[in-house]
Amino acid sequence: MSEDIEKTIRELHIYEKKLLKELEANRKATPEEIAENANMDIKSVMSAAGSLASKDIIEVDKEVEETYSLTENGIAYAEKGLPERRILNALAEKKEIQMKDLASETGMDKKEANIALGWLRRKNWAQIDKGVVNITEIGAEFANKAGVDEKVLDYLKLNADGVKLFTDDLMDGFKKLTGRKNILNIKKQTTHSFILLPKGEEILKVGFTIKEQATQLTHEHLKEGEWKSLEYRPYDINAEAPVVFAGKKHPLREIIDEIREIFLNMGFVEDNGEYVESAFWNFDSLFQPQDHAAREMQDTFYLKNPLTCDLPDDDLVKLTAETHENGGGTGSIGWQYDWSEDIARQSVLRTHTTGISTKHLYEHDAPIKMFSVGRVFRRETFDYKHLPEFHQVEGLVCGEGISYQNLLGTLKEFYKKLGFEVRFRPAYFPYTYLSTESEIYLEEKGSWIELGGAGMFRPEVLKPLGIDQPALAFGMGIERLAMIRYDVEDIRMLYKSDIKWLREVPLSKGVRL
Ligand code: DAH
Repeated sequence: MSEDIEKTIRELHIYEKKLLKELEANRKATPEEIAENANMDIKSVMSAAGSLASKDIIEVDKEVEETYSLTENGIAYAEKGLPERRILNALAEKKEIQMKDLASETGMDKKEANIALGWLRRKNWAQIDKGVVNITEIGAEFANKAGVDEKVLDYLKLNADGVKLFTDDLMDGFKKLTGRKNILNIKKQTTHSFILLPKGEEILKVGFTIKEQATQLTHEHLKEGEWKSLEYRPYDINAEAPVVFAGKKHPLREIIDEIREIFLNMGFVEDNGEYVESAFWNFDSLFQPQDHAAREMQDTFYLKNPLTCDLPDDDLVKLTAETHENGGGTGSIGWQYDWSEDIARQSVLRTHTTGISTKHLYEHDAPIKMFSVGRVFRRETFDYKHLPEFHQVEGLVCGEGISYQNLLGTLKEFYKKLGFEVRFRPAYFPYTYLSTESEIYLEEKGSWIELGGAGMFRPEVLKPLGIDQPALAFGMGIERLAMIRYDVEDIRMLYKSDIKWLREVPLSKGVRL
């Protein structure tokens, strides 16, 4: 006898034991019989059976049996004849009937007469010619002969308790009737049977006794000392339990909140802009020339309503215009074109969160440490890597002595807190100098992936805003981070509400340092 079997026996619930004993006495016992003989209710029998089946001790077979009988309508048809039969009878006498007289001649209502007509044609018993219904040869032949479906109708009428099985000669007619509405009633009955599996046989061979077991310790058991003599059933702590999926934040929300927490802990304050922004803040304040490719219709969503946004104070607009046109007082020669207020007024769905930084600089005095998280919009075609709407996090630090080194240090610290190793490579943005792109290391792939841009805001950006201290700025996409964190190959997964994925995805893979 293997140790396994002993352990299994020890862990059997009393109901399981009772069920097995009944099966030993009567291999074919039904759940109902077991319930009666073992003095259990049927629910306990079924739950014990389920538990035994999960341990491969028995097998639970399920058989569904259907019983067919006539509906009320079916009974009426059986008595009076199918609608088409009633018309056929009338036709057999008169050979032809005007369509419009069909109902009155047969005592049916219009609707029924129409149904009948449909079947008459389908059965080829009649044809209609210029509003007159004529009997066909086949119809004449059937005038004195029951169709296969009618035979079944009769048969079911005789067997009012229901029929489980039809003989071959009735099968055709039965199938025809099942295709018609409201004639047949189908009652389904499920019967269960239990089959002892080899493991069950072995358990019975080894044998066991049935003793009442304590399932719950009561206050009295403990007080009176009865607990000492009670019989306990051991628990199988390795038994499979149903997996419980607790409610949790959406993974994207989780990573956004984690990012917010990191910046808040690093002493940044949070700012939030609006989805709808003027081209002025989204582009012009960032020294992006008005013919810059990113402003093209195919890259940016321009709005009809509101078609334009207000521009900020005249002074700022004037300084920005000058800077674009000839560098203003920044020491640069600008972009050398005629700056247009109208273009700056256009309203756009913000294409990045960087406009929040310039606005923040304009509205606050240094020292500044600001971050913002939010949705941005670009005219992208959906694919596994792109969405027209996604999230960015943006950061800004401005103050005396702020340097490019501080920028790299800040980003390093941020990524480290998210659990990533980062490296930097040179880059270009119209609004920063020096500029860089950060890449993080993907352990599984052994490669680096670009995650965001950063740099020191140029004087052409800072001067018009009235800032004369250096400012570092950075921005990055959040969905990409989420894809890496949650091992998602297709960005759309983050927006699909795929319940299986949402349930199973482990949160917080990040190393918090
Ligand atoms: N706005 C850039 C983008 O959407 C990212 C970026 C680059 C933000 C450089 C910055 C920066 O603040 O300095 O890709």
